[in-house]
Amino acid sequence: MKGMKRYCVIGFPLGHTLSPRLHNGAFRRHKIAARYKAAEVKPAQLAKFMKNFRANFAGANVTIPHKISILKYLDRVSPEARAIGAVNAIVNKNGLLTGYNTDASGALEAVKTKLKSLRGKKCIVVGAGGAARAVVYSLKKAGAHVAVLNRSLEHARIIARDFGCLFDSLAKFEELYGATDGCDLIINTTSVGMWEKGKDAYKKASPLPNLLRAVKAVSKKPLVMDIIYRPRMTKLLRDAKKAGCTIITGDKMFLGQAKKSFELWTGLKKF
Ligand code: ATR
Repeated sequence: MKGMKRYCVIGFPLGHTLSPRLHNGAFRRHKIAARYKAAEVKPAQLAKFMKNFRANFAGANVTIPHKISILKYLDRVSPEARAIGAVNAIVNKNGLLTGYNTDASGALEAVKTKLKSLRGKKCIVVGAGGAARAVVYSLKKAGAHVAVLNRSLEHARIIARDFGCLFDSLAKFEELYGATDGCDLIINTTSVGMWEKGKDAYKKASPLPNLLRAVKAVSKKPLVMDIIYRPRMTKLLRDAKKAGCTIITGDKMFLGQAKKSFELWTGLKKF
């Protein structure tokens, strides 16, 4: 159709993605002539896909495994995405491709549904991958004190160096939690507890198997957020609820990044 703008999410695999439904719904509500589709692109196909992208798409989201490798196909990268080292949204303006990171503001928006100010708050981020970098960036920018706990200490060290936070091994969680009299916010950015096709183990998997005991041992109850949105109630969040904590489910951050991407493409704040 002539005049119809095209958008997509670039990733692999994309079997589970909710993005097309979300964005097509928003385009329809705002009466914008645009369509959004899932573009399953394997790593070996990315160069070819990006060669044709400029002429065919007005914008895109980028997801696993391309959030870092996409950078070399872009003309510009926002300072925020540059600092995080990952891009999850692209705007094509008159043939010029600019990369943004809307995961960072999406994470902050999700946290702010339950915690108005992060200034001076003690936060633990579990994991040190690409998603953790966006989360840590946004927490630090909002004035929080952040400690990164990760399975591999070396990855935690890198993120701590890049963003100026504390770090330690994930195995030390309970010990550190007790020694520092707890914290205000815990965010899981690892894939532990995420839905897996044909498997059941994820239902019992948590990156913090001793959360309940750790929280019960101190007086303060942390806010606990998971960025996994399938399932909505992960083992971590179920444990957090049992411990009496307030929780934030992963769909909040997902919605936050989608809203921000939509705003970059259309200028509209309302999704
Ligand atoms: P993403 O870009 O989505 O964040 P990633 O870069 O692969 O994904 O990062 C995955 C994160 O989950 C890492 O912090 C990883 O820990 P390591 O740095 O030790 O690899 C963490 N992770 C994955 N599986 C895990 C597990 N079974 N237990 C603990 N942490 C795990």
